[in-house]
Amino acid sequence: MKKIAILTSGGDAPGMNAAIRAAVRTAVTDGLEVLGIQRGYSGLLDEDLIDMDYSSVGGIMERGGTILRSSRCEEFRTAEGRARAGDILKARGINGLVVIGGEGSLSGANLLMEEQGIPVVGLPGTIDNDIALTDMCIGVDTCLNTCVETIQKLKDTASSHERAFVVEVMGRSSGYVALASGIAVGAEAIIVPEIPVNYEEIADKIWQERKRGKINCIIVVAEGASSAYTVARHVEHRIGYETRITILGHIQRGGSPTAFDRVLASRMGYTCVKALEEGDTGTMIALQSGKMKRIALGKVLSQKKSLDMELVEMATILS
Ligand code: F6P
Repeated sequence: MKKIAILTSGGDAPGMNAAIRAAVRTAVTDGLEVLGIQRGYSGLLDEDLIDMDYSSVGGIMERGGTILRSSRCEEFRTAEGRARAGDILKARGINGLVVIGGEGSLSGANLLMEEQGIPVVGLPGTIDNDIALTDMCIGVDTCLNTCVETIQKLKDTASSHERAFVVEVMGRSSGYVALASGIAVGAEAIIVPEIPVNYEEIADKIWQERKRGKINCIIVVAEGASSAYTVARHVEHRIGYETRITILGHIQRGGSPTAFDRVLASRMGYTCVKALEEGDTGTMIALQSGKMKRIALGKVLSQKKSLDMELVEMATILS
């Protein structure tokens, strides 16, 4: 292995820069040439490549987003697009590719390896924490901290005005971000796509708590389950509780990564280069019980990460 390339793809996630830094510095230390592909698979198809060396990744660990930038690329979804990408990588003499991104990006990487024989290693980088066989993805911890900080502020206003706040968080079709942030702020209700929503039950619970003297109410809803508007309408309509909504949106994807994300991303960036060097390709680097593991991409992508039902039960008891 002489020359590798790195790209970030799909939704950005805090910590991607720390992963890029770790991968570049590990590869350079081991004598490899490193190219950065800008704007994900779109940039690959446009041959938007830059040379990277030890100092080119200085001072980026604390920065949110990705210095390589990102995109969602329609052309790469086609076999023709991937064939063109394979030709470009081969023509450039690139014999190892690191892909940092979510499920769609990792699926693309897997197909690139299967169809074009490009050795790839993937890193799970998404705030959604919806990738199977890894306990955490890069960016999740920072996203959760952003959610908690913001919801905590809303709680102040909820108490002052004796209102309910419905907060919609991201997560695509996963309820992880809603569940974890809801637990961390002591939300009265958490609505996730994995469990059918029962508005009557939620409204009744909130009403009982109100009668007991509780002066605020936070409901966290995952974007994949319902919308904040719908939930608020149900609550107001059923119990007449004055309700406001907040959609956290892309604020959850930005910001300087937490220490956890910096360490996780550094470990994953380091490990992916070692995996490429050792021919352990077609894999994703995962965090399992505190350890770095190399798991076949096909295995990762054939499974859906399920929500921890014990956490759901605990959240119900504690709220
Ligand atoms: O996958 C990350 C994510 O932020 C999801 O939580 C969300 O549904 C989606 O990306 C938003 O995508 P975009 O940035 O393209 O609007």
